[in-house]
Amino acid sequence: MTSPSKAQAAVGPVAHTDLLLGTRSIPIPKSNTPPTSDKQSALDQLRERHDRECPHCTKATYHTQTVFGEGDPDAQMMFIGEAPGAEEDKTGRPFVGRAGKLLEKMINAMGLAREDVYIANVLKSRPPDNATPTVTEVSKCAPYLTEQIRIIQPAAIVALGAPSAKFLLQTSIGISKLRGRWHTCLFGDLEVPVMPTFHPAYLLRQYTPDNRTKVWSDLQMVMEQLGMKT
Ligand code: URA
Repeated sequence: MTSPSKAQAAVGPVAHTDLLLGTRSIPIPKSNTPPTSDKQSALDQLRERHDRECPHCTKATYHTQTVFGEGDPDAQMMFIGEAPGAEEDKTGRPFVGRAGKLLEKMINAMGLAREDVYIANVLKSRPPDNATPTVTEVSKCAPYLTEQIRIIQPAAIVALGAPSAKFLLQTSIGISKLRGRWHTCLFGDLEVPVMPTFHPAYLLRQYTPDNRTKVWSDLQMVMEQLGMKT
């Protein structure tokens, strides 16, 4: 894969998937990080702008409210899912249904509370019948996620499931092949390591020891990357 161009950097993430194959530890420049209050107010402004102008969410009719995302604006770790489901649509909060309960257990198993991380989705409004987001929907709504990531400047992102991994890594490769190793994404000039793993909803459907071991191994790689393992 060649280096990302400025034009690519302006429209969305650029994956260094091939460049970093097999690389577990990626240096992350964390200079010029705005203070928390500035980050929170930047997120508030982005949320307001998203709800006013998102070309997808302002036209979509199935949802009752948008689900912007929530958590610590200073989080080192971001979890990015696919799109809000029924519970999320009702409450306006990401990952509060069954899959969300499992995600919370995963976060707790890493020694963190839900409030310590930041949780968002590729789409900010619930798709009809929880359909997989289309390429067009993602192209319209996900640039706001890119901005969210640029404000938070996480040290690592966990991509939950195929739509999230495919958007972040700009690939059509399946999640089974992507998970278990680090990829690097450029969001403008911000470089963030991304660890794809299975979506908790998939894990609930296929709750096998093998899948659980794989997800836990992915999360342990994230802990290692962030110096959370002794
Ligand atoms: N699944 C997702 O991908 N996101 C949510 O917020 C809830 C379920």
